[in-house]
Amino acid sequence: MTHQNPLIQTLQELETEALDAIRAVPDGDALEVLRVSYLGRKEGRISGILRGLGALAADERPPVGAEANRVKESLREALEAREAEMSTSGEDTGAPAEDLTLPARHRWSGGIHPVNQVIDEIWTIFQSMGFVRARGPEADTEWYNFLALNTPLDHPAADEQDTLYLKDSVLLRSHTSPVQVRTMEKHEPPIRILAPGMVYRRDSYDATHTPAFAQIEGLVVDEGISFVDFKATLAEFARRFWGPGTKVRFRPSFFPFTEPSAEVDVKRMITMKDGTRVESDWIEIMGAGMVDPNVLENVGYDAERYTGFAFGMGPARIALLKYGVPDLRMFFQNDVRFLSQFTSQFPSQFTERSAT
Ligand code: DAH
Repeated sequence: MTHQNPLIQTLQELETEALDAIRAVPDGDALEVLRVSYLGRKEGRISGILRGLGALAADERPPVGAEANRVKESLREALEAREAEMSTSGEDTGAPAEDLTLPARHRWSGGIHPVNQVIDEIWTIFQSMGFVRARGPEADTEWYNFLALNTPLDHPAADEQDTLYLKDSVLLRSHTSPVQVRTMEKHEPPIRILAPGMVYRRDSYDATHTPAFAQIEGLVVDEGISFVDFKATLAEFARRFWGPGTKVRFRPSFFPFTEPSAEVDVKRMITMKDGTRVESDWIEIMGAGMVDPNVLENVGYDAERYTGFAFGMGPARIALLKYGVPDLRMFFQNDVRFLSQFTSQFPSQFTERSAT
């Protein structure tokens, strides 16, 4: 044909170039780029050539249109063939490979915070001894936080230096002991409660202090509760929590709401790496005592008839000792590399990485 339209030649040159490019393409993504650049409806090069059709005489248009359709079809086939070739030879087609022998990816699932784990463990022990759970508000009044607990407002703990006041006589509770008062106000003895919760103090934020921390309060009141019940219950708790070899010591102390008062220390048996068992130092785990009769009277109980004991402990400190954590602040930083060490349902990010 002598009168071949120049557009037909352009189309044929483009076909040759495109077929070479398709054969050389390295991966599925690049293949897609090629497809769009040749066959794309708007920006594609064949569409661009066909836009010149309008300038041709009416009888010249059909052969150019027919040639354009042939080239399009030829390129479509080449693209498909190249894609099929890449997927059978294992080259990346951009589509996800299904390799059923790969290890499964770990699902990212949450875990229970180490301090809450300790609270749960302590709760389980007291629950089995017949305690029930109690709670109170974190914002409370001077009456519940101090006065009803036989603590005068000129006591150093009631000072603004130590306690966070919200307004006038309303404050963030500085201990969980107000839950004792709130429970006794609502219920007659026998009382046997455990009350975990957050407390707040105007304190520094360092390795051994945090201005917010958890406490666990306990209270038992009934007719005939004696110092023997008090010692036996807390010793039983310590042996269940730290193991049967644990020694327990009650050191005389002072709290306004108990008389007599004690600080309870434990000496744990520790298993060394080589299997030998050694005794730890004495560590203080709680404040405790026999409920002061003034507290019982403040809630309208007959202090001649009822007696009781109470205790308060810090689960974060206990978690620190249990897990050998060097700094209380680590419990607040929410670093998953730290937190993931405390539960098996929460795979560490190192496992996560190696599996992906
Ligand atoms: N409320 C005390 C504190 O925060 C701890 C405490 C001591 C609680 C003796 C008690 C107790 O119930 O009997 O330091």
